[in-house]
Amino acid sequence: MVTVDAIVKLGGSVITFKDRPLTVNQEVLDRLAEELSASGLSRLIIVHGGGSFGHPLALKYRLQDGYKGPEQREGVVATHRAMLKLNEEVLKALENSGFKPISIPPLASALASSGRLKRLLHEPFVKALELGFTPVTFGDIVFDDTRGFSIISGDSLMTELSSRLRPSKAVFTVDVDGIYAEDPKLHPDAKLFEEMTADELLNLMEETRSRPVDATGGIGLKLKEAYKIASMGLDVYVVNGLKPGRLLKVLKGVRVKCTVVKGVKP
Ligand code: ADP
Ligand code: IPE
Repeated sequence: MVTVDAIVKLGGSVITFKDRPLTVNQEVLDRLAEELSASGLSRLIIVHGGGSFGHPLALKYRLQDGYKGPEQREGVVATHRAMLKLNEEVLKALENSGFKPISIPPLASALASSGRLKRLLHEPFVKALELGFTPVTFGDIVFDDTRGFSIISGDSLMTELSSRLRPSKAVFTVDVDGIYAEDPKLHPDAKLFEEMTADELLNLMEETRSRPVDATGGIGLKLKEAYKIASMGLDVYVVNGLKPGRLLKVLKGVRVKCTVVKGVKP
């Protein structure tokens, strides 16, 4: 089995302007691609979110609760195509930084049941890595046994791929410095957890009754997926992708402002 150096999620809040429809934050995307490259790690899996490409359309057509009627078809088409468009931008940035990126869209490689990821064909990721490609996947519409279709977050793909491929580390880039005791945008004095155990994360999840503000589950889902990955024994990093150099340091194993959730051996 191939050794995966890291699985990295490029958050939608980082690579797009969340308040501007269909707008890439090109400067940040290009810089993150450069940091990935400068890390010297060659076996990376990249997952990206939807930001202003995925969420506004998914919410507009009310896709988050599954199939309700034929008028949603145009919404499914529009949302998936918007994600493909963003994916193309991510591929371009990675290629410009020296990677050989290939896209593995969940619509064609995954299935859901009751809104949750049920199956993901992981072999193409393994084959791609073995041949020196960088597999890139993303939050997407996925067909669902019970609901017709679901929206599967990149955060959930991080967990499934981590479980299958056991990367050395899992990294979530976000637009804040890491995991805080409370939403730092609402509570500027909130405490940043620089290092936390999976149990501490579990407590925080119980305290944080964060209502989803996007189509997939917001920070609540991210904390849940980070908990699951740490429970597999893998270290999980949540780092600010808007601050130059931080992702690079995390990838190089150099101490930097962020949150690390220490993996616990199951
Ligand atoms: P992304 O779209 O990049 O995957 P999200 O928008 O889902 O990320 O989650 C990041 C956001 O979660 C931050 O902008 C932050 O304001 C919010 N947030 C809410 N509660 C917390 C918390 N306890 N710690 C960190 N961020 C939080
Ligand atoms: C969302 O994926 C995908 C769609 C809305 C189609 P994510 O849940 O991973 O996106 P971000 O990172 O929160 O923007």
